[in-house]
Amino acid sequence: MHHFHLKNGSLQVEGLSVSSLAQKHGTPLYIYSQTTLENHFDRLDQALAPLDHVICFATKSNCNLSVLRTFAKKGSGFDVTSAGELYRVLKAGADPQKISFVGVGKTEAEIAYGLKSNVYTFIVESEPELHQINAIAKKLKKRAPIAFRVNPNVDAKTHAKITTGTYANKFGIAFEEIEPLYARASKLSNIEIRGVQMHIGSQITDVKPFVLAVKKMIPLVQTLKSKYGIQFFDIGGGMGIIYKEALASGTPQWWKKNKKVLHPALYAKELLPLLKPLGLRIVVEPGRYMVGNAGILIAETLYIKKTGKKNFVIVDTAMTELIRPTLYESYHEIVPVNKITGKEISSDVVGPVCESGDYFAKDRMLAPYKKGDLMALMSAGAYGFVMASNYNARPRPAEILVKGKKAIVARKRETIQDLLRGEV
Ligand code: LLP
Repeated sequence: MHHFHLKNGSLQVEGLSVSSLAQKHGTPLYIYSQTTLENHFDRLDQALAPLDHVICFATKSNCNLSVLRTFAKKGSGFDVTSAGELYRVLKAGADPQKISFVGVGKTEAEIAYGLKSNVYTFIVESEPELHQINAIAKKLKKRAPIAFRVNPNVDAKTHAKITTGTYANKFGIAFEEIEPLYARASKLSNIEIRGVQMHIGSQITDVKPFVLAVKKMIPLVQTLKSKYGIQFFDIGGGMGIIYKEALASGTPQWWKKNKKVLHPALYAKELLPLLKPLGLRIVVEPGRYMVGNAGILIAETLYIKKTGKKNFVIVDTAMTELIRPTLYESYHEIVPVNKITGKEISSDVVGPVCESGDYFAKDRMLAPYKKGDLMALMSAGAYGFVMASNYNARPRPAEILVKGKKAIVARKRETIQDLLRGEV
């Protein structure tokens, strides 16, 4: 569910018109709905209510300060993957005891920063990292709380670049090697074993891989609880969202028709009976579910270019602002911001960057866009702005956060002068 809808053919975000926001703030423009963010948090929180649980929002999916602050105010925790993300969530008011520091390649400085910030746990991905954390904790006269990331070797059957839970990936520690590792960790002077974690991949739209992985983990989790007194089991993130019918999925009617689509209640219905008997705190690390459908990217049509075979709609946003289509062959629904009449036409939507991979859609039936028409790239709230770059010396766009009829500039548009900062 989300708070983008059409009113007389014009796209609205909560109580505001998208086209007036684009007029005021220019394009390309990211727009987020705060009510959607809050609603997503509440739904998951309610679904998990029977458990002692912590939602650690995956900061990597959207690290805008105002977005983070929205979640922090709700009592959300955070999963951070770098010093930069840790800095951001602390600035946004996060409770350090709800921060989980993940990632396969934490530097010495990052580990020290995490320890000094008093994070709830480090998620450790290798034995050398464990020793590194122990040594730094010793130097700082601290005990480092840790959990190992277990690779349950379950194929989440998602895109190759975002599946993580099999032995073909760099992530986690093989299931078979984990118990002896906990035994060795328990002997280290400056390590406190606190939990165990898994994360099998992203954009998982079926509950089965989660169930399979949790079932596989249960005996191990029970052993770790009895041997080392672990406090929590972190089942990772990965809940998928609707990309194909993104706009329609903002209505309850759509969800009534599509009952089998993964949502928090279904996720909880299948997982609660497995997790509750463990008597542990359950941590989840959702990113995309929380922010994906809460954000859109607005572009203006610059030119229509007809070649022998193709109708190219050239817009003012590019792979620099939203790299997902070219990196993962991902689909983002494209919606006209104001009604466009006329027959749909097979089109490629492309940006100004000098790469053939700079596209948002290929051979897609779309309204007959003309110069000046605005379009919304839907479901761009997760892994959108955070993956933006300055390639071709393009300034990054502004980000707007809307609540009801109020909009704030959550991040100013970069200027071309900003791009020279730090250069000589
Ligand atoms: N926890 C860990 C340890 C992760 O690595 C990730 C995502 C998450 C949680 C959150 O997963 P989510 O709930 O968002 O699926 N850029 C790609 C997705 C990369 C995911 C990286 N890890 C994309 O745009 O599809």
